[in-house]
Amino acid sequence: MLDRILADRINEQINLEWYSAYLYLGISNYYIDRNLNGFGNWYLIQSQEERDHALLMIKYLQNNSEKVLLQNVQAESSDYPDFKAPAVRALEHEQRVTASINNIYAAAYEQKDFRTMQFLDWFVKEQGEEEKNEEDIVRRYELFGSDPRGLYLLDSELSARVYMAPSLVI
Ligand code: FEO
Repeated sequence: MLDRILADRINEQINLEWYSAYLYLGISNYYIDRNLNGFGNWYLIQSQEERDHALLMIKYLQNNSEKVLLQNVQAESSDYPDFKAPAVRALEHEQRVTASINNIYAAAYEQKDFRTMQFLDWFVKEQGEEEKNEEDIVRRYELFGSDPRGLYLLDSELSARVYMAPSLVI
């Protein structure tokens, strides 16, 4: 059995992961609408990864005989002022998600719930990678994005991303 507070926090995190999936789907649509299909591809795959995160957490609750409480997922406006803004929004969002995962980790540590800490280890590492990826996109956009050729090359590079199922087995 999981501690009540921990189970509630993981349920809240599940909602935040679906929110992330929705946010990135909106960003993907924004770019595809503007023919930046490489950016669109990148954020579509990011959305798929966020869905996977939610599903992994759902499985973890179920493996611990805990109820999964799905909540409404809010859509965010995709009315971005320029091509850089969605990437900045994604970076800010990942920083928020990292803080949230860290808070759950701290609660698990307090409860001496080593199994949940072990489960969360994968997410802690994943957040490090995701923040770095988003930071790279923002920095590279700042370097090359205002030049049409640079933007084209960046878009081509992002089109190479391929979806991979998560490596975590619960
Ligand atoms: Fe699942 Fe990017 O947080």
